[in-house]
Amino acid sequence: MSTERPKLSVIGTGYLGATHAVCMVELGYDVIGLDVDEEKIGRLVKGEVPFYEPGLPELLTKHAKSGRLRFTTSYEEAAEFADVHFVCVGTPQKKGEYSADLRYVETAFTSLAPHLHRKALVVGKSTVPAGTAARMEKLMRSLTPTKDVELAWNPEFLREGFAVADTLRPDRLVFGVNSDWAEQQLRAAFAPIIEAGTPVIVTDFPTAELVKVAANAFLATKISFINAMAEVCETTGADVTQLAEAIGHDARIGHKFLRAGLGFGGGCLPKDIRAFIARAGELGVDQAVSFLREVDEINLRRRARTVELGLDLIDGSYRGTRIAVLGAAFKPNSDDIRDSPALDVAASIGRRGGDVVIYDPQAIENARRVAPELIYVESLDEALTGADVTMLLTEWDEFRSMDPALVGRKVAQRNIVDGRNVLDPVQWRKAGWRYRALGRP
Ligand code: UDX
Repeated sequence: MSTERPKLSVIGTGYLGATHAVCMVELGYDVIGLDVDEEKIGRLVKGEVPFYEPGLPELLTKHAKSGRLRFTTSYEEAAEFADVHFVCVGTPQKKGEYSADLRYVETAFTSLAPHLHRKALVVGKSTVPAGTAARMEKLMRSLTPTKDVELAWNPEFLREGFAVADTLRPDRLVFGVNSDWAEQQLRAAFAPIIEAGTPVIVTDFPTAELVKVAANAFLATKISFINAMAEVCETTGADVTQLAEAIGHDARIGHKFLRAGLGFGGGCLPKDIRAFIARAGELGVDQAVSFLREVDEINLRRRARTVELGLDLIDGSYRGTRIAVLGAAFKPNSDDIRDSPALDVAASIGRRGGDVVIYDPQAIENARRVAPELIYVESLDEALTGADVTMLLTEWDEFRSMDPALVGRKVAQRNIVDGRNVLDPVQWRKAGWRYRALGRP
């Protein structure tokens, strides 16, 4: 195998894997992307990205005909082709439990292993509980024809919406390895990124696994901290947006991830902190992360509070009212509705009898699949028409830039809940709106 420029496979072509595959081609590697979902692979082969991620379709188009990027559903083909294999499958939360469902990770490793006939490095990128990498290495070795397979863990920190930039120019690379050989393979597989000056942390398996979980736990905690302050602001009459601005000027605190509002959602932060709690319990260190339960609860309380803010504006009952919900994705610039706070609030209002009309620039198709009982429309105008309360729940630019006077002509009543603290209350109130927000008078 050449350490000059190893050939790569990417197993799992979801948000993480598809982005990783396309970006590695952009960096000059030959890549094969594998997924067991034939429809997904069919779309990628046609040059279509099966989800919304800014910048990715352009890159896929750019490389589709280069001959350096191909897709398959065959493990045999991937094993034959590549020297370094990246496992990028999902680790969702188990139904009714806190722990992560590792079935896709296990399937990926055990499906690839029997086809590895020459020395290869298999790199886990999925977010997993501590101890998984060591377990997968043992499992793989028992299944490969050559006992010469090695594992590494290389956690991924990309944000949806910025996935391309985060993959091409990450803040750091973390290599969890058991040998110099594995480290050298990874260095070769990330050479252009390392040459650009990206810091590399070379460590063991458990540290690499924990780096990812710890990073997400910290980010979730930071958001819940400011949302806890928002709760205090609500009873003291203080303004959490000014409070955040003021404390964020302290460089030790910083302004990032200090936006109070409806809180965090998505396919990572909520399930990762829960999986961390579950794993810590198994390891007997529950106390060390018991604060994460509170982080989760603060986060969920914000959703309930948002439902209440709407109720305040219409005299205590949603029944018979029309509620315009702006946003279904868990954050802007994404079509991902996994654990979306916006969709959760919308569904809760629907259950209380409100006629919920949702508009989102990208996530409607996904939202309709999980919450078919709600009404979806194709434009902001349609959503606003005749609304008794307008609820801004995902801060897409299209919503942030609304003109309160213009919007006021469409709605039945000028009532707005700013679930993401992105509107100017002075302007909206001046235009005759009753304005409510989280943590703000
Ligand atoms: C996150 C991590 O940022 C990333 O490093 C990791 O690899 C995967 O999980 P992502 O889920 O794409 O990425 O979203 P992120 O931008 O982190 O936002 C998470 C949630 O927090 C969103 O729902 C967002 O609306 C919310 N958020 C973020 C806040 O409520 N306030 C903030 O200040 C920041």
